[in-house]
Amino acid sequence: MIGARLTTVMLFLIAGGLVMTASRFKSSSQQQDLIALDLIDLFNQEQTDLSTNPEGYNYCQAPRPTLETYPDPKVEGATLIHSQLFIRHGDRAPISALPLDLDMVWDCSSAYTFTGPRDESTEKSPYHYANVVAHQVVTIPAGSPFASKLMWKGSCAPGQLTPLGALQHRKLGAALRQIYVDKLNLLPEIYDADTVHIRSTDVWRTKQSAENLMAGMYGVQGKSKSATHPTLPILQIHTLPTEVDYLTLNAGACPRISQLRSNIEKTSEVLKQLKDDNVDFSKQLTRILGVEKPWSGYMDTILPRICHNKPLQCREDGIERGWNCINESISNRVLDNVAIQTTEMYRDAEGVFDVLRLGMGPLASEIKDNLLAAKAQGRVRLNFYSGHDTTVLPLLGLFGAEDMRWPPYASSILVELWKTPQGEHFVRVLYNQAVLLTKHNWCNLEWCPLEAFVTHLDRFHTKDLMSECQRQ
Ligand SMILES: *[C@@H]1O[C@H](CO)[C@@H](O)[C@H](O)[C@H]1NC(C)=O
Repeated sequence: MIGARLTTVMLFLIAGGLVMTASRFKSSSQQQDLIALDLIDLFNQEQTDLSTNPEGYNYCQAPRPTLETYPDPKVEGATLIHSQLFIRHGDRAPISALPLDLDMVWDCSSAYTFTGPRDESTEKSPYHYANVVAHQVVTIPAGSPFASKLMWKGSCAPGQLTPLGALQHRKLGAALRQIYVDKLNLLPEIYDADTVHIRSTDVWRTKQSAENLMAGMYGVQGKSKSATHPTLPILQIHTLPTEVDYLTLNAGACPRISQLRSNIEKTSEVLKQLKDDNVDFSKQLTRILGVEKPWSGYMDTILPRICHNKPLQCREDGIERGWNCINESISNRVLDNVAIQTTEMYRDAEGVFDVLRLGMGPLASEIKDNLLAAKAQGRVRLNFYSGHDTTVLPLLGLFGAEDMRWPPYASSILVELWKTPQGEHFVRVLYNQAVLLTKHNWCNLEWCPLEAFVTHLDRFHTKDLMSECQRQ
């Protein structure tokens, strides 16, 4: 979910953070202590056990590709020549503060981020080398009449990336470095702006996630010797104005999308059944939480607490029947309902194809262009896109993924282009470390011929997109 639009003031502050420098690598023998692997054990991942349902789904942390899990190419001797990475940002504060949240503390002040506040002692910011450094610091004043009624305590704005979320992407970046730099030589050891193209939605948490992933991949641990090193690389994070972005379904630019989606909501039998099956359940949730929300909204207020081991919501107001507290099984039922809804809204319902065609068509074309450019020996080895659950979900829908459960924090999709010794090109798609399984088997995404993959992407191309985007 994209949270409230950032204010102009915030954008100015963030602008300073969109450029970061990374230290250079000297030799492969020194990589281990340069990359962010030493951070990996800082946070105890066991804390997220509560949200792990029997199938191993964990909303709080997506599985990461690792050297051990990363599959060999199906054809021996094939070379990886290009990859496209799509992520959901890491762990974040809830998107909105509900009545029961006012006494909670959400702390974002120690996040490993460069656009956010940092702790001088933990590491040097790349801005150490710049003349001016602006860090945005969120303060929620205890005495403010507004804050006491409308906001939790601590130092997190709604939807802000937490230190844990920053770390998740450091780890992902470090893991991808082991695979793409050390093992496969897809990317150079030293950051090269021509080989990695970074793109993000214009939202703080996605930009911070992108920074942290790149920091994990190319290390920024203050190892650079000289403050005036002339060749310190600068990372550029490319954004589009939200009005015209296409990393999520942009119903503002394409109003027909909302019309199609509300048609689905009105006509889907699955959604009607979901509603009927949960009349009492949603009534209870609304009573406990004090507000009525869509399933994803309930998820958004419950799961961040679970991911941080915070007590779940209770309303002890002497109600004579029913339950008064959220617990693990209630949370799992919410997640199950969310999954039913997203499967319908992003993959199965009549009309979804048109939603994806209008909303994801531009991104599908870009994925195709990236692949074809790489085949023609273009220089970009990694196209990195930092987005949201609402980036990953429609992409899963576009690929017809079998698993349409809500993408956990720090989810990743890798669209890889491989070349065989015979000179043939194949696409492989990994979702959270494993080959993406499709429901309708339009192609085996462990090893899909490039032409077949492109043909599929072309299905989402619309000739006159803007005229079809008008309401009907
Ligand atoms: C959760 O709460 C419900 C309703 O009070 C109860 O029936 C259920 O046993 C609880 N589950 C757990 C795991 O505590």
